[in-house]
Amino acid sequence: MFRINISTKIVSLFIFSALFSINLSAASWDVPADKKSKNSFIKFNDASAKEGEVLYNKNCASCHGNPSKGNVLKSLKPTPPDLASDGTQKLTDGELFYILNTGRGLMPSFKNVLSENERWKVIAYMRSFNKKYVQVLSNTDPSKSELVKVNMQYDAKSNIVTVKVVAKEKTGTVVLKDAEVILFAKRYFGKLQLDKSMRTNNEGLAYFQYSKDLPGDKAGNVELIAKINDEAYGELESTTKFKIAVPTDKPSLTEKRAIWNVLVKAPIWLIITYSFGVLVFLGFLLYLVLNLLSFWKIGKI
Ligand code: HEC
Repeated sequence: MFRINISTKIVSLFIFSALFSINLSAASWDVPADKKSKNSFIKFNDASAKEGEVLYNKNCASCHGNPSKGNVLKSLKPTPPDLASDGTQKLTDGELFYILNTGRGLMPSFKNVLSENERWKVIAYMRSFNKKYVQVLSNTDPSKSELVKVNMQYDAKSNIVTVKVVAKEKTGTVVLKDAEVILFAKRYFGKLQLDKSMRTNNEGLAYFQYSKDLPGDKAGNVELIAKINDEAYGELESTTKFKIAVPTDKPSLTEKRAIWNVLVKAPIWLIITYSFGVLVFLGFLLYLVLNLLSFWKIGKI
């Protein structure tokens, strides 16, 4: 009897603490201190909130509903919070930005979906529902990203692309250390990430392994896009064309007849059915006019 009692106690204690910890992890976000205090360089005003609203409706409303309306997608667990709620509004701008970057579980990461500017504009929109909110602007200068120069080189033997990131300051060239670099290959629709995201070393270099069978255009060219994110210099993208891919003879999407192409390149069957439809319609109109004309003649007699 005593033993059962003890083990039931232990089991229930275990279940309780498990439930409690699940609850805790769903409620709080572990945001590193330096990320927590990050501020936006975009001013939160009516204009930025309006742009943020468009992005919000496209990317967030399906789960989070309309802020302050509580029409969130309740079938998800954990339930996506109403982003105008006190709980969310208590988070700092840096925390919101971090959550948008990293995501968690069903909450997607928007780091490669929305640009840094766009992510701040979505936050501007969320803040427009908080009357008490007062913005602290960041003193990083977004125009600093224009000083950044990216150089890409490849080694066909080892299949490694080297990305070097520097900033051309007036006082000289500064090597960007510990900047985040993500490398993509441009595809027909969107882009394909190559390798993991990397950080530049002390020489401002990041190395990426790419696959030998990366498909390119007819000549084997592929456009590589390096997305850079640096604490001080902000975000930017740089594109370089390389002949490192497998030549792929894919006709361009607008080369052949297709329903999305211009009229002269529309599929024959579409032109025929369309023309036939127009002819039938015109013929019917002519028939009506002739009939009306004959009525008119009869009336005159
Ligand atoms: C597929 C559904 C989905 C989409 C789309 C989505 N979210 Fe979320 N979001 C969630 C879920 C689920 C949570 C709760 C996650 C958790 O606590 O682990 C969440 C949590 C959050 C939180 C934390 C709120 C708090 O109080 O803890 C913020 C902020 C947030 N989302 C913002 C956004 C923004 C902004 C967008 C659009 C750019 C967006 N989300 C798009 C599902 C989604």
